[in-house]
Amino acid sequence: MSSELRIAINTGGGDAPGLNAVIRAATLAALSRGWEVLGIKRGYDGLYHEGGVVPLTRESVRGITHLGGTILGTTNRGDPFSFPVPGPDGELQRVDRSDEAVQILERLGVDCLLAVGGDGSLAIAHQLAQKGLNVIGVPKTIDNDLAATSVTFGFHTAVHTASEAIDKLHSTAEAHRRVMIVELMGRNAGWIALFAGVAATADAILIPEIPYELEKVAEKIESRWARGREFAIVVVAEGALPKGGSVSYLEGTAGGGARRLGGVAERIAAELEELTGKETRSLVLGHLQRGGSPIAYDRVLALRFGAAAVELAAEGHFGCMVALDPPEVKPVPLAVAIDRLKTVPVDGDVVRTARAMGISFGDR
Ligand code: F6P
Repeated sequence: MSSELRIAINTGGGDAPGLNAVIRAATLAALSRGWEVLGIKRGYDGLYHEGGVVPLTRESVRGITHLGGTILGTTNRGDPFSFPVPGPDGELQRVDRSDEAVQILERLGVDCLLAVGGDGSLAIAHQLAQKGLNVIGVPKTIDNDLAATSVTFGFHTAVHTASEAIDKLHSTAEAHRRVMIVELMGRNAGWIALFAGVAATADAILIPEIPYELEKVAEKIESRWARGREFAIVVVAEGALPKGGSVSYLEGTAGGGARRLGGVAERIAAELEELTGKETRSLVLGHLQRGGSPIAYDRVLALRFGAAAVELAAEGHFGCMVALDPPEVKPVPLAVAIDRLKTVPVDGDVVRTARAMGISFGDR
């Protein structure tokens, strides 16, 4: 391989604030080495479509550090190993188009793929690496559930957005003497709910890691009323579940064919109203948590990840993911990066802090 590389960047899975900062840093770091940079549009989809791979230049990445979304677009339905194509009866069928993806990248002269994604996209990146492709992963997800990095970019922005929303709920909850239930993202891990709930002083935080008993939450609410604090805020992660029960699902499927989580706040609101007799309302913050401008912390982290990925490519260090191991950004093997999810430690200091503040997790 010559020392002047041609790299391709893609962004896959649910978007997260900071994706554009990664694209900008990686592009500028590569261009300044005299390399060429290509961008693959909409995850891996762009590989299979005319015009789906575009050159990335100084001009195309100008002024994007602060922008949410991704200039390349993304999808959580474009797995080359299980690619959706219409069958003869019009129904979508899944076919393995991974060999084609590798051939197309080779034909384009791509020496290294920078795959920016969460657990699903990084697992695809790992499978492509096993097919002989030079791949470097960049961890992205607002859920912060990748074990190999101390934090993912996008997480703190999502927490900030959620905290601001919860702050605003306090006044309307108090004015109406209501219980407000806020559903936040977090399929398997309750990081966003935990951090936003602590930052915005929720009365109860329900997360997948700590199955709840609504009677305990009701007790917490009753105790507030008894003290003259006649309103309450309950923050719930979409993947939270009652003790001995199951998570709540919506109609339809998410990326990869998994069922879509959702509806837990509405379910809890009805049950809590029944238990407490207090007027209760629910809301789902949903994709607001993924949108908007990354906060400065996420911009800096994303820029560091983008620049570090290019450094690794220059060293020929492939098959790895950049990860924050404070104070440095370091490589970890992709196989390790996708090995396990990072869930909230139930006896960790953030949970203990919350308990010390009197916040209920619905378990005691
Ligand atoms: O980015 C991860 C995530 O935020 C999950 O917490 C959530 O379940 C999922 O994305 C929803 O994604 P979409 O609605 O785009 O399929």
